[in-house]
Amino acid sequence: MTLPKQLEESTILTQRQLGDCVYLATFSAPEIAKLAKPGQFIQVRIQHGDVMLRRPFGVAAVDRDHQTITMIYRKIGHGTRILSEMLPGEEVNILGPLGHGFRTDVKHPLLIGGGVGLAPLLFYAAALKGKVDVIMGGRNEDEMFWVNLFRPYVKNVYVTTDDGSMGTKGFPTTILPQILEKEDYDSIAVCGPEIMMRGVAKIAKEHHVPCEVSLEKRMGCGLGACLSCAIDTTDGKRKKVCKDGPVFPAEEVFA
Ligand code: FES
Repeated sequence: MTLPKQLEESTILTQRQLGDCVYLATFSAPEIAKLAKPGQFIQVRIQHGDVMLRRPFGVAAVDRDHQTITMIYRKIGHGTRILSEMLPGEEVNILGPLGHGFRTDVKHPLLIGGGVGLAPLLFYAAALKGKVDVIMGGRNEDEMFWVNLFRPYVKNVYVTTDDGSMGTKGFPTTILPQILEKEDYDSIAVCGPEIMMRGVAKIAKEHHVPCEVSLEKRMGCGLGACLSCAIDTTDGKRKKVCKDGPVFPAEEVFA
C-alpha cells in the first residue's frame, strides 16, 4: 500500500543542541505535519556547494496546530554536520512522510529505545499520551535529556545506562524481564541498536507480547526504487526498509 507523501520547501524554525552531538531541529512543513504517523520518516535534502545530499530522519514530533515537524538527530557524518550548522530561517527540501510506522491501535504499549532511537518513540508517546511506559537506554547520565522530553506523555520511565551513572547499570534488556513480569503490556515498540532490538524481541517472544522493531538502513531513494535498503525476511522474502518498513513485526525480520 502506498501512503500519501509530500515534497515541501521547509524553513528551519529552531535548531538547538540537546547533548553531545545530538540536535533538535523544528521545521515548517504543513502537509507533512498533517500526514505523519509515529514511526514514519522524512528525507531531508541538504545542499552543500555543488553537492546535494538526502538523508533519512525519523519524525520525533509533529505540531498540527503550528504545522511543524521536529526531528532529533546525531551528528555522525558530512550531511548531519552541515545540517547541524544550519540556522533558523534557512530552507531545506523535505520529502515525507515515508514508510510504515508503528501500530497505534493498542491500549498499553511499552516503548524501548536506545540513543537517538528514542526519537521516533517520542512521537509515539505523544500520540498515545498517558497510555505508554518507556525504557530508555544510553551510555551515561549526560545522554538522559530524553527523560524530560518523554515525561509529559508517559506513566513510567525506566532508565538504564552503560556506566550506571543513572538508573540501572546495563541495558534495556537487563530490566525488561522483570518489568514484563509485573505489568501487562499489549505491545512493545523498539528502536535503537540492532543488538538491543534483537534482545528485546527475544524477551518479548518469551513473554508472548507482540513486538515491533524499527530498522535503520542506509537509504538511497527512500521510495522503494533503488533497492539499497533491501533485507531478507525470516520467511525468505525480500523487503525494502524504506517502503515496507522501517517498522516491522519483530518475527518478520529477526529469526
Ligand atoms: Fe531506495 Fe529503499 S532506499 S529502495
